[in-house]
Amino acid sequence: MPEPVPLIRERPASAVSQEITLPISFRALAIEQAGEAVSMQRKSIMALHEDDVLIRIDYASINKMDPGLARVNVFNFPLPYVLGFDFSGEVVGLGAQCQEAFKVGDEVLGRSLTGSCFAEYVVAKRENIVHRGAVPAPEASTYGVAYLTAYESLVMTGGIEQHRGKWIYVAGAAGGVGHFAAQIAKLHGLKVVGSAGKAASLNLLKELELDHVIDYSKQDVVQEVMNLTGGKGADLVYDSTYTQSSYAQSAVVVARGGEYIRLGTEAQVARAGANDVQSVVEGRGARMVISDLGRYARDPLYQVQTAKLTDGLKQAVSWYESGHLKPAITATVPFDAAALQQAFGDFLKGTNNVGKVVVRCA
Ligand SMILES: NC(=O)c1ccc[n+]([C@@H]2O[C@H](COP(=O)([O-])OP(=O)(O)OC[C@H]3O[C@@H](n4cnc5c(N)ncnc54)[C@H](OP(=O)(O)O)[C@@H]3O)[C@@H](O)[C@H]2O)c1
Repeated sequence: MPEPVPLIRERPASAVSQEITLPISFRALAIEQAGEAVSMQRKSIMALHEDDVLIRIDYASINKMDPGLARVNVFNFPLPYVLGFDFSGEVVGLGAQCQEAFKVGDEVLGRSLTGSCFAEYVVAKRENIVHRGAVPAPEASTYGVAYLTAYESLVMTGGIEQHRGKWIYVAGAAGGVGHFAAQIAKLHGLKVVGSAGKAASLNLLKELELDHVIDYSKQDVVQEVMNLTGGKGADLVYDSTYTQSSYAQSAVVVARGGEYIRLGTEAQVARAGANDVQSVVEGRGARMVISDLGRYARDPLYQVQTAKLTDGLKQAVSWYESGHLKPAITATVPFDAAALQQAFGDFLKGTNNVGKVVVRCA
């Protein structure tokens, strides 16, 4: 292991605090080639652009796209690549334009659009980072993707405010995205019915104190939602499951004049075999809303709205502090290649995807 040296010797004086001592290199859990197992590698501390913040990572969370991207490098990340798209940690270096917003030693949470969070250090853009306040480090690492996806869907793109006091059906309400969606709906005054299949998922839904829980593996989802809503259907339906079997049920329980929020691009949803959802929803006289966090990274029309996502992250901290939003962490993976590989495999099998699974990077 190389001796730590003051980073300032390696960087322009404007870019990094004079007080921090950092290693020249750090450990990262990388994919050498798509489809190969995770391996521990050393990376060099990166040079900072003016809007960059260097973070020493405490925790990063696993999102469904991580095991997917480990198998197929659809974003063409340069090899070898490090996954992990959200984190909590401590600010250890600042680009010249970041010094008003943050200082060295600040405890923050955030996201990286280019991955690299299953590592000891990451460089993230100032606009994608917020102070974590009273949120503990493990919980804080879960907001950058799963929570933000639910927030973007319901608060920014969907019209959750207009459904106050009405029913929402959250398909997959114990998943990473779903358990945030259910809580956001509750704190906007909606009555929440959520579904899950695994025993551990159903236990989490009990803990979340939803108004009604459906075990989709044993119960008839359509019948349950219809009974609950007096045959009218749910005014708001949120389906982040990417499964054809769920789409087939969720599309037919949306109420006339209601809203159906579907997550993901046309291509992603088509891969799940669900091209017909839109026509079913519209045939029921409801509005189809398509939500996709990824478009804020790739579409200039959405990129200019990034500040609204950052406000969403600040809102998460405030909701946590007021006791209204609690990420459910169901497992913590050590900073070890075999352990992360195992967690990826379990995610793809669907055995560990209850609430959030985090990686302890510190
Ligand atoms: N486009 C975007 O912006 C974006 C952003 C984030 C995530 N995503 C995608 O969104 C999806 C969800 O992500 P996630 O992190 O929440 O995944 P996750 O943690 O695996 O959650 C999926 C949930 O779906 C439930 N489920 C599976 N089949 C179901 C069915 N027929 N009916 C009801 N529930 C069902 C599962 O419950 P049981 O395990 O109990 O069966 C599980 O809790 C993933 O495909 C992810 O790639 C997209």
